[in-house]
Amino acid sequence: MTQTIASQAIGVTLPQAGVAKAPAISTSNLTKRYGALMALDALTLELECGDIFGFIGPNGAGKSTTMKILAGLLEPTSGKASVLGKPVERNGDFVRRNVGYMPDFIGVYEDLTVTEYLEFFASAYGIPRKKRRRIVGDVLELTDLKYKQDAFVDSLSRGMTQRLSLARVLVHDPPILLLDEPASGLDPRARIEIRELLKELRRLGKTILVSSHILSELGEFCNKLGIIERGKLLVAGTVEDLMMRARAHPVIAVQVVGDPEAAVRALKADPRVDQIERNGMELMVTLQDQTMHHGFLVEKLVAEGIRVHSMAPHQLKLEDVFLRLTKGIVQ
Ligand SMILES: Nc1ncnc2c1ncn2[C@@H]1O[C@H](COP(=O)(O)OP(=O)(O)O)[C@@H](O)[C@H]1O
Ligand SMILES: [Mg+2]
Repeated sequence: MTQTIASQAIGVTLPQAGVAKAPAISTSNLTKRYGALMALDALTLELECGDIFGFIGPNGAGKSTTMKILAGLLEPTSGKASVLGKPVERNGDFVRRNVGYMPDFIGVYEDLTVTEYLEFFASAYGIPRKKRRRIVGDVLELTDLKYKQDAFVDSLSRGMTQRLSLARVLVHDPPILLLDEPASGLDPRARIEIRELLKELRRLGKTILVSSHILSELGEFCNKLGIIERGKLLVAGTVEDLMMRARAHPVIAVQVVGDPEAAVRALKADPRVDQIERNGMELMVTLQDQTMHHGFLVEKLVAEGIRVHSMAPHQLKLEDVFLRLTKGIVQ
């Protein structure tokens, strides 16, 4: 992508003086009920300026509800939501200026070309006519859609539509972006393109709350992650913090010569062992705490006449970490 020129023009809009210290986004006990249904249950989270927060959860978890409230499009039943220190419900204009909200689906704009579509939104945001053309050119370049500038919006593939939708939220250059499942329904190639684009936005210094129902889609470029299920935030934190919390119970991968079940029986009885998962011929042995050296496993097995083929600390992947954290293995 050719971001250099675009980056200069789109740049980073720093929060205005006086609000620089406030979190970019903060919610406190944010709750939304639809009749008896609790769509969002006391959600509390905070994003510092520059954070890329991956908001992960299955369909119906409450991700879109959260984003709509933060964008000022939906009123919460109770709780607070602020953008750059200002309550969303009383600062509509401020929120619209500082937040770019990309919904999960854009409406239908059959008769507009890509350029017309973006110019329409630029004018809706009050960008003067003279500046509009340049800004639209810049966002088209950033999102790699220049070659489609005269195409009709409804002729675009889903991947291009998603990039156009991102281009739209960038025209007024907001410092905060709420991106609702930008990669959903995309083929692998389009998904990679979106990911690259998000990385570029991170480099530009944007604060981003981005949702997905797939952890691996977001894991590698977010600095913070949260898992939401049935309206409740199960875990959240910086990626390092989550990794550390999961490592409080180290996992050792063990392979023995012969039947692994004999090894399972021998190790299960030891109070220093928290749990054992069998993965084919490999055993994943979770220890009680971090300070413990795994050498005792060898002694135990040898004492039972079991020969050890290999033993090594297992590097937890982000997926493992989340499984463990959300299963309640780690508090
Ligand atoms: N307008 C609405 N009326 C009634 N229920 C709704 C409405 N919008 C969302 N919900 C429900 O709220 C829950 C959370 O939805 P949503 O925030 O869209 O989840 P997600 O974006 O994580 O898939 C779901 O159970 C959904 O069916
Ligand atoms: Mg949704």
